[in-house]
Amino acid sequence: MEENKTEIRICLGSSCFARGNKKMVQVIQQFLTQNHLEEKVIFHGAHCFGHCGDGPMLKIDDNLILSNDPDEMKRLLKNHFGL
Ligand code: FES
Repeated sequence: MEENKTEIRICLGSSCFARGNKKMVQVIQQFLTQNHLEEKVIFHGAHCFGHCGDGPMLKIDDNLILSNDPDEMKRLLKNHFGL
């Protein structure tokens, strides 16, 4: 990971896909754009994190997060970036 950048990885496994990871990708991308954070974040897909029944799963740096609620996801991101 590049220094001083936050890494966000979202699981692209089939269970997380079925549980709505595509929607979360849109929510996160929109949040990063609206808050001009694109340069500070590496956002990419990842293989299964092994919590398939709980997804969609993602990691912000090394913190494992599950959320299918867009508002909760925005709160988590705001919290992470101190906004
Ligand atoms: S498919 Fe996403 S955690 Fe396994």
